[in-house]
Parts: sequence; structure tokens; C-alpha cells
Amino acid sequence: MTGPLNTFAPGQGRRPPRAAFRSDAPRLVLDGDWRFRLSASHAEAPAGIEQPDLDDSGWDELPVPAHWQLYGHGAPIYTNIAYPFPVDPPYVPDDNPTGDYRRTFELPEEWIGLGAALRFDGVDSCFTTWLNGEELGWSTGSRLPTEFDVTGIVKPGRNVLAVRVHQWSPGSYLEGQDMWWLSGIFRSVTLLSRPPRALDDFFVHADFDHTSGHGTLRVDTSIPALLTVEELGLRDVSAQGPYDIEAVEPWTAELPRLYAGELRTGGETIPLRIGFRTVLVEDGVFKVNGRPVLLRGVNRHEFHPDHGRVLDERTMREDIVLMKRHNINAVRTSHYPPDSRFLELCDELGLWVMLECDLETHGFSLMGDWRGNPSDDPRWREAYLDRIRRTVERDKNHPSIVMWSLGNEAGDGRNLQAMAEWVKQRDPDRPLHYEQDWGGRYTDVYSRMYTSHEELDAIGRRAEEPLSDPVADARRRGMPSVVVEYAHAMGNGPGGLVEYQELFEKYDRCMGGFVWEWIDHGLREDGHFAYGGDFGEELHDGNFVCDGMVFPDRTPSPSLGEYKKVVEPVRITMAADVMEITNLYDFRDLSHLTLAWSLEQDGEESDSGTLPLPAVPPGGPPARLPYPTANTTGVLTISAVLTKDEPWAPAGHEITWAQRAPERAPVRRTTRTSRPDPGLFDPRTGRLTRLGNLPVTGPRLDLWRAPTDNDRLGHDPVANTWRHVGLDRLQHRLLGIDTEDDTVVVRTRVAPAATDLGLYATYRWQATDEGLRLTTEIEPDGDWQDIPIPRLGLRMSLSAWINDVTWYGLGPAEAYPDSRLAARLGRHSSSIDALHTPYVFPQENGNRADVRWAELTGRYGGLRVTGEPTFQLTARRWTSEDLDTARHTHELRPGGAVHLNIDLAQHGLGSAACGPRVLPQYRLTARSAVFAVTLSEIPGR
Ligand code: GAL
Repeated sequence: MTGPLNTFAPGQGRRPPRAAFRSDAPRLVLDGDWRFRLSASHAEAPAGIEQPDLDDSGWDELPVPAHWQLYGHGAPIYTNIAYPFPVDPPYVPDDNPTGDYRRTFELPEEWIGLGAALRFDGVDSCFTTWLNGEELGWSTGSRLPTEFDVTGIVKPGRNVLAVRVHQWSPGSYLEGQDMWWLSGIFRSVTLLSRPPRALDDFFVHADFDHTSGHGTLRVDTSIPALLTVEELGLRDVSAQGPYDIEAVEPWTAELPRLYAGELRTGGETIPLRIGFRTVLVEDGVFKVNGRPVLLRGVNRHEFHPDHGRVLDERTMREDIVLMKRHNINAVRTSHYPPDSRFLELCDELGLWVMLECDLETHGFSLMGDWRGNPSDDPRWREAYLDRIRRTVERDKNHPSIVMWSLGNEAGDGRNLQAMAEWVKQRDPDRPLHYEQDWGGRYTDVYSRMYTSHEELDAIGRRAEEPLSDPVADARRRGMPSVVVEYAHAMGNGPGGLVEYQELFEKYDRCMGGFVWEWIDHGLREDGHFAYGGDFGEELHDGNFVCDGMVFPDRTPSPSLGEYKKVVEPVRITMAADVMEITNLYDFRDLSHLTLAWSLEQDGEESDSGTLPLPAVPPGGPPARLPYPTANTTGVLTISAVLTKDEPWAPAGHEITWAQRAPERAPVRRTTRTSRPDPGLFDPRTGRLTRLGNLPVTGPRLDLWRAPTDNDRLGHDPVANTWRHVGLDRLQHRLLGIDTEDDTVVVRTRVAPAATDLGLYATYRWQATDEGLRLTTEIEPDGDWQDIPIPRLGLRMSLSAWINDVTWYGLGPAEAYPDSRLAARLGRHSSSIDALHTPYVFPQENGNRADVRWAELTGRYGGLRVTGEPTFQLTARRWTSEDLDTARHTHELRPGGAVHLNIDLAQHGLGSAACGPRVLPQYRLTARSAVFAVTLSEIPGR
């Protein structure tokens, strides 16, 4: 055989692709410890590894499934677009790390007389395999299954299996996804018995007619088979049917009704889980079971911080449960088919799935105009078709899959079109997606990524820029719109989610989209997460691999909480005299929810209760309910919670909430403050050094924040402007200190070096019964034009013994101007340390918004800050400069002080690392401002 290198062919010696399923036929899972040895180059890899009697006792051991780089052999590489090898297809460099694997297994007696197939669920990037010294074949397609017929080769007793895996192969050109390059046998290896009259393949077609409530069931099988679905009254009937079934309950992601059944041939019995649903595009709208569906989706890579793309079932379930608990209803399997068990869980727990083929050639875009792109090169055609066949055949029986996707960022070309044609004839019942079908020629939905709000609005109105060919334009304009990637969730952000959701909800054409992305791909190192460049890569894309809504260890980042609120399937609106409850589910009424309410006075609950919720139908008018209490002085919170346990959350789980707050909640002092002592000022700087007995490094103007990923990346990053102007290195000059009656007036000019731009900051200190009232007046000096600034406020510091903070304002999570829907008004407490959000790449974080008062305390007392009416608060054990300098979380070390920012405003977050910048209404620019707070000492106990 030729072997996997130096060829455009995808494989040799393999069985035809077929559905993944379990059956009662015996199987032998070959996972576990294998013998392993890595050679630095394919040329140096030794001959003879297939010899059954080879002495491999001196080899290392490596678990299967695993990536060898995560077990000390070689190192991970992260690139986004670029191939980390010369672009010279189909060739790969000689220095091609090559892993040899060997294991033995005993074939049990019961297998005698049975045929057998050897199945590899995923090997990155290509492999050749031998059983008992005989070559079975080879394959490419890392995230796709491969089977070999081993009937007559596998034998009773001891068998020796050998596998040679190369890190790079021609297939690598088709696998340029933005993720770690990680190699090895990373999914299971199984020996499957194939008894006489085994069923090789089947295709379940289970449609739902929403007009009649009927289901139609037909199972195409590779040999005649009997079908049983007890619940539907089908017992040992011919699988082929078709059967018209009266009154089935349809499958949806909201109510994932599955019917258990089984297929039987003389050779084996296969359990089935059937979901009835019909997916189509009708009148330019994406519909399931006759109703438009709004995807509240995420892009999900398979990732684990210790195991790379090796996931166990518990982790897969954890992902889905977390998604469901955050109101996410859809997943795009970016950018390859996941472990099939994940799809079984999607069927069971309910998620709409866009299933994507393992294909990306993005690196060719760097050649200029996609020169040499395999997508349009006939020599690669068979490899493309091979990939889509293996994708669709493996996963075709999952009701959760409502759309196929040809791949990601592979440019345009005839091979993609050929794939599309194949899918259309094999599975006409699911729409097809591919974002780079720019002419809308062979797909069914108009897909865009990182679309601006403005462009999405035009698309929603079917008023986007026309294509030059009017026929193609009409076709595309008639398609539903999906935003297959948006709201790049890198670091602190994205901002602007709610503005997207408004558009999705406004236009029929919009079927929603998928946030980029679910999880940060940070690899766990000692006490921190590593990203591109941390493994000595010569080419890499840094922390661009950490852009998820959950941290690498699956702790939700604040953006996930924000998304949960933005995509709420129930909306509670507090109108003047009634509460309006709108059902935004696509299929479910609201009878599974209860309303729980609580009334708080200055953060303390004074009353609470529950209310039943009427069964508001989806798409129906909102229910109007009277308020549960006549009290309007407190803050009323209404939550919609699950009445009963669901498979993904317990009873009481909150789906969404809303609040009604009086114009201004009463400001009540919670801790005794001392008789206000006058402040002590440093006459040279005018800064406050002591407040009563409390040592402070007094407040002064601050404009800087450690740039977020969205501030510092993307096209023309705003942080470059900030640094260019010098907002990170302000200098302060005292103009004078005056005393006017009871007020100390400190006048300053604040400006960076090398520019005549500056700001006048005047601090007026006044002793009141409550403490020292500080009014800050800011006046820009010079032509600031439209220069955005990160923040406008004051910075000060306190002693390191300050440990705790209690505030009345939005919380408990951080909030920024364009990402603050998830924060609710109330009294919140935290340690100083827990205010910090551990973004993998350190950056601005932890802002608490709309704070009316805050108390920062430790064992010797503390500081109270009271707003007029509110301020924004940040408190941390390092400065913005420390945050800015650090590259990993473990580089942040508590210093000798607690640093506070008391802000009037912050710039928004946006998602400019890959997408639109901060929307105009959330931009902050230098401007005249006045704001006041009162500082008072809290005495020690
Ligand atoms: C997209 C791409 C994703 C990812 C993202 C940026 O263009 O499809 O795989 O690279 O950009 O994080």
C-alpha cells in the first residue's frame, strides 16, 4: 500500500462509512495503556513495528485515547490560521513526529465464527495499522471514524495490533482549524464483532407533520431488519415501513421526546432512540415542526485543560448541562464532528445541533487570494467527499442534528460544491450550511460571521448588499440568516450581546446564531493556563485560543451569565401596574415554571412568595399579572424558576428574572462610622493621606485600564490609541491648594508626557456629618477630538489588611456598560480576592456598576464610599499597571495595598478582537464632568 504521506488520497483499505451505533454483538474496547515510542521524523521511524514478536518492552507507555504532547512527548502548537509547516501540498516536512503504538489483546472464545471490524474513532492526523503483522490500511481525517475489516486476521488467543501515527500528513492541509495541533490516537479504538447477518448500516427517517400531529417512520437498512417501537405499537415489523403514526409527540430541543425502539436482524439487535421532527426552510424562514426556531447557540470545540480534545462522557454531559442551565439551545460542532456520545446526549437533553465536517483550509488565505486552495483543486476532490461521507454517515440518525455544515473557512470551490451535492442526495431532509459559499450557490442558509449590528439589521430586512448575479442574489436573499459566529467571547467581553438579540428577535429571517465560543482552550500548567507561545512554538497566535464563555476548567466566565440573561426564553417586563410575562420559547408553554418573588429593603428581604404562571403558549400574547405586593419602596425581584426537576436542572433553577426598583433606593448606613475626623493632606501633592485613623493614598484622577483582549486586538485596536496618547502614564501637577470656608480645594493638571493634551482635575473636599465629601470636576484641556478613554474616575489605595467588601449596587458579577444585563440590584458581599475575574490573559476585570455605597473592611476598620447617586467600583490587590504587565494569572501577586477605582464611567467592551468595536452609545471620551462621593472611616472593632 502507498501509505498516508505524499498523496492526495484520503485512505486505503477501509470499510465504507456507516452509522455509529451500539449493538448487542460482542465488542472489545482496546483503550488503555499501549506501548508507545516517538520518532522525531517519519524518515527515522523504524521499520518492523508490526512484527508480532518485536520486543517492545523498552518502549514507553501511553494511554489511548490521549494526545502524546500532553504526556511529555513533543509539544503542543497553537496557530489560528497559519499552517506550522511549509505550504507545499501534499507534502509535509521530514521532521514529522511519528508515534508508534503497539498493544496485544486476547480474543475471547465467543468470537469464534464471527466476522470482525477494527474501529478507530479519531486519530490525529493520519495512521497506518497492522494486525498480527498484516497491514490493514491507512487513513486520514483526524476527527472522523475509520474501520477496517479484520475478519480472518484477528484470531482466537493473542493478537498484536500496531499503529503508526504521523503528526503531519496531507490531511493536515484540510485541518487548519483555529486550535491546538495535538496528535495521537485521541478517541477510542474498538474491535467490533460482525456476526453473520449483522446490520452494517441504517438510516432512521422520522418526520413530524405539525398540521396533523402524525409521525412517519421508515428505517432504511443495509439488510432486511425488524423494527420494534413498543410505545408506537410496532412490534417486529419490517423496518422499511413506512409507518404513519397518529399523534406522536415531536422531538424539539425544548422537549426532546425520544421513543425507545430496537432493530433486529438474525445477527444483532440495535437499540434505537427515535425523535420525530421535520426541518425545513420555508418562505425564507428556518422552521422545525412548522414553527420558526431561534438558535441561541454557541460554537463548541472539544476541549479539556488536561486532556486536549480527549473528553470523557462526564465532561460532555457537563457541557450540555451548563449550556441548558444558561438558556443555550443550540450548538455548532466547530469545526469537526465531536465524539458521537456528545450527540447522544444532545438527543437526550435537547440541543439543536449544526454538525460540521472536519474541514478547514484557512491557511491558504494567507497565500493571497487563496492561491492553491484545495477546495478548488480536483486532486483533493476525493478527500473532500471522503470527509463529508464519513461525517454524514456516522451521525445521520441523531434527531438533534438539524443542519449539516461542510466545514469552516475553506474558501470556495468545486470540491465544496461536490460535497454539497452528495449531502443533498444522501440526506435531503436537513438544510445545509457553509459560511464561505459566498455566492449562496449550494447551501440553504445565508451565513455570516462577526457581522456588525448594522449589517445584521440590513440582512434582517433582506436589504443586504446585492450579489452581482441577480439570480444568485434572489436565491440568497430568500434564505434565512444565521450568524454562525458572533460576539467573540475573548477575555473580558463580549459587549453588545443584547443588541444582537434584539435583531434576532425582530426579524423573521434571522434564525439566531452561535457565539464564538464555548470554552477557552488554555492548557493547565502549574497554577495557571497556558496558551500559544508557552511551548516554544516558532509560529503562534498567543492567547487567541482563549476566547470562550467558560474558562478552561469550565468555570463560567461573566459572559456566560450575561448570555443567559440576554437569550432568556421568558421575558418579564415590569409595566406600570402589571407584570408582563412573554413566552419566547419556540415550542413550550410556560406551565413548567413558577414565579418566585422577593422584596428587599436596602438589600434585606422583607417579604417573599410564589405565584403560579399561566400556560402562556409560545408566540402567544404576554400574560399580564398583578404585582404580588403593593409595596413600592423596596426592590422587587421576580424570578421564573423550574417547578419540577428537569434532566438538566433541579426544581427551583432560575430561568430568568426581572427587577423593579424605586427611582432611588434609600441609602442606609449599615456600619457605624466614627465621628468624622478631618482628613490629612500632603501639602506637596494635595493628596489625602489619612482619613481619621485610616491610612489612605488619596484619590486622584485615573483614565487607565489594563487593556482587555478586545481593546488590544483586532483591526486598529483602541488600546494602541490609548498608549499612543499616553493614558497609561499620566503625570499629575499640583496647581494650588485653597481653603474656601469649610472646603479644601485642590487644583491639578493631569497629562501624559510628550503631548499638550491634558485634563484639569479639581478636587473639592468638604467635611460633613457623614465624612469627607469629595467633588471632582474634570475639564479637558486641548483638542481631545474623539479620542476614546478607558475610564473616567479616581484611583486610590488602602492598606493590605482590607479583606472584604460589601456594596449596594449591581452584582454579584462584574458589569460593564455594554454587558450588564446579568447584574442585579442588591446588597452583595465578597472578599477583595473574589472580585477578580481570572481571565486567562490578565486584563481589566471586576468592575461593579451602579454602586450606591460600598464598605471595604478588614480587622482594623475600613472605608465607606457613598455615591451621589452611584459610582463604579473596582478593588484589587494589584494595580492596573500590574494587570497590564502580567501575561498569565500566576504572575499577579498581591502587593502591599488594596487598589480602588471609583469611577464615573468606563468604556464599553465590544468584541473588536474579532468583530465590531464598542457601539457608539458605549464609547467613553474625554469630557467635562463633575461627580461626587463621600468617604468615611469605619472604625476598627
Ligand atoms: C473565525 C473562525 C474560528 C475562530 C474565530 C476567531 O474566523 O471560524 O475558528 O478562529 O474566527 O476566534
